[in-house]
Amino acid sequence: MEKRSKIQTFHISTYGCQMNLADTSTLMATMINRGYRPVDNERDADLIILNTCSVREKAEQRVFGRLGEIARYKFRKPHLKIAVVGCMAQRLGKELIEQVPHVDYVLGTDRVFELPDVIEDKPGTDQVMTALGHENIDFITPVKETPYSGFVTIARGCDNHCSYCIVPYVRGKERAHSTDYIIDSVRRMVNEGVVEITLLGQNVNSYSCDETDFPDLLKRVAGETGVKRLRFMTSHPKDLSEKLVDLMAAEPKIMPHVHLPLQAGSNRVLKRMGRVYTVEHYLKIVEYIRKKLDYICLTTDLIVGFPGESEKEYEATLAVVRQVKFDSAFMFRYSTRPGTPAARYPDDVPEKDKIRRLNKLIAMQQEISRCQNQRELNQVRFSLVEGTSRRDATVLRARTEGNKTVLFASENVAVGGVVPVRITEADAFTLHGQLEELT
Ligand code: SAH
Ligand code: SF4
Ligand code: F3S
Repeated sequence: MEKRSKIQTFHISTYGCQMNLADTSTLMATMINRGYRPVDNERDADLIILNTCSVREKAEQRVFGRLGEIARYKFRKPHLKIAVVGCMAQRLGKELIEQVPHVDYVLGTDRVFELPDVIEDKPGTDQVMTALGHENIDFITPVKETPYSGFVTIARGCDNHCSYCIVPYVRGKERAHSTDYIIDSVRRMVNEGVVEITLLGQNVNSYSCDETDFPDLLKRVAGETGVKRLRFMTSHPKDLSEKLVDLMAAEPKIMPHVHLPLQAGSNRVLKRMGRVYTVEHYLKIVEYIRKKLDYICLTTDLIVGFPGESEKEYEATLAVVRQVKFDSAFMFRYSTRPGTPAARYPDDVPEKDKIRRLNKLIAMQQEISRCQNQRELNQVRFSLVEGTSRRDATVLRARTEGNKTVLFASENVAVGGVVPVRITEADAFTLHGQLEELT
């Protein structure tokens, strides 16, 4: 009890992807249920939790930097505890405490929700817990992100082995949540007022539970729950089916956005990345999507400077990006992850070339994003109001059907509402509009 009485408040910082954001929401609820109180400022917390990411070296360096800063709080507050959870905790395990001795707890991706037990020193718990497992994952209750939107994880882990990627190692093999669990979770959130739900998985298209595949699941969620707007991510090009696209065309609740990571535009690089599709296959999917859907936002992930990527192969990525015209893209320099198959390849593209390649790609994509956004001008997009603009509190910030941010001024609209907004201005990053009066 001694230990317990000292930790009363906690603060969580989240790094990485939506999967971590979803886990943070659940961890937050778990801690609150056990009597701990969240605080907005980490300086007020008795327990500081970092939910971490390992996907690139930079993501880990940021966490090490933060740990250095947090260490100083311990001088003033000796009972302060520090927990590192999630992907980096999974990857490094007790090495993390060896490197940063003031870290108190290290909980891997399948152990995150045991944090209250660990800080209460329950039997069977340990300072470092990283065993992967949990065949049945339906005990994890998803929790909404905001009062009006939420994530529901449909599968944890990943069975693909893209050669550069640490995720399968830190998240374990793919385990699907049962269809009933997913439908119940969505229903519960909708009852609590959630308007928009994003179904999450590293590769949602490989979802399979009993006889239910991903399009069947989407169809059931759309049909059997009161959710207004439904999204999903991420789609792997090798598994995205025509059945899914046909369903998107038929089901208005499914929002017109597909995040379809291309990674590279050369077949030789894709092969070495272990992506198991060709550029031709990718383009065929895009063609089918655009043929079946009048309006669709396509976004992607791209890596430059993969081991052995020649200048010509990099140019091939630029060419595909130019051809597809993505609405936006996340673009990265290749970062070697220890233990992955690509780590055995020499990291032979010089850093200065990686930077040059990335900068040129970003500049090109920015121009494409601007053009794509210009195509929205004068259109009416039903948008979910999420809050106010960061710069101007009198301006509302909303999410369009295509997942773009639109800013508009209105005094009569409440956060959480879905309203028609006519787009009047567009740059590479943001749309601006006016509330459309519906007659
Ligand atoms: N499951 C998702 C995304 C996982 S990680 C998918 O398959 O698309 C998100 C993105 O990070 C990846 O799409 C990839 O573009 C990038 N990424 C992953 N590992 C990386 C590495 N070692 N170096 C640089 N970028 C990487
Ligand atoms: Fe990583 Fe590939 Fe799995 Fe995505 S599909 S998480 S890139 S291994
Ligand atoms: Fe996500 Fe990073 Fe982990 S991208 S799954 S938080 S390694």
